[in-house]
Amino acid sequence: MPSYSEPKVYISEPDLKVRVRELAAKINAEYGMQEITAICILKGSIVFFTDLLRNLKMPVVCEFLGMSSYGNHTTSTGEVKVTLDLNEPLIGKHVIVIEDIVDTGLTLSYIIDYLKMKKPSSIKTAALLFKPEALKAQGLKIDYIGFEIPNHFVVGYGLDYAEKMRALPYIGIIEQ
Ligand code: XMP
Ligand code: MG
Repeated sequence: MPSYSEPKVYISEPDLKVRVRELAAKINAEYGMQEITAICILKGSIVFFTDLLRNLKMPVVCEFLGMSSYGNHTTSTGEVKVTLDLNEPLIGKHVIVIEDIVDTGLTLSYIIDYLKMKKPSSIKTAALLFKPEALKAQGLKIDYIGFEIPNHFVVGYGLDYAEKMRALPYIGIIEQ
């Protein structure tokens, strides 16, 4: 038996579906049929990434970037490292970084600086969840935000608690 209680539904599966479609519609409207390179930040963004992708109309090149900042803790360590690098050069590409959640924003800031060194034509950012109260990164711009949420630890829809609960179809809160 798991030692944690069943997470409470915080954002339901239908609400996620509607919002992901809205974000995709915005991206479709802004980019038209121009090719983009969508970068999935592993592992938490996998579900958001694949759901978003299926609603995009332009040609999409998929890339995966492994970042580690949390270990099994629930608070930011401020430590960020690349655990899996991109396959293709980004020079001249229109990049959209797909993140699950922006908490302190330190991870996304680091990612943007890292990707800028690869000389893409443009970089935009999408985050399914954003915790404005936790933000520490100065001047961080998130172009597409799914939901602003309070400073609670959330799980599901790709997000984990000690590598568990990523497969939940909704965003939940664990009662601790
Ligand atoms: P920062 O603080 O750098 O954190 O913006 C971003 C990364 O931290 C993880 N994170 C969470 N993971 N539930 C999770 O499962 C949360 O509530 C949460 N808050 C931050 C996540 O990996 C994100 O990419
Ligand atoms: Mg993540």
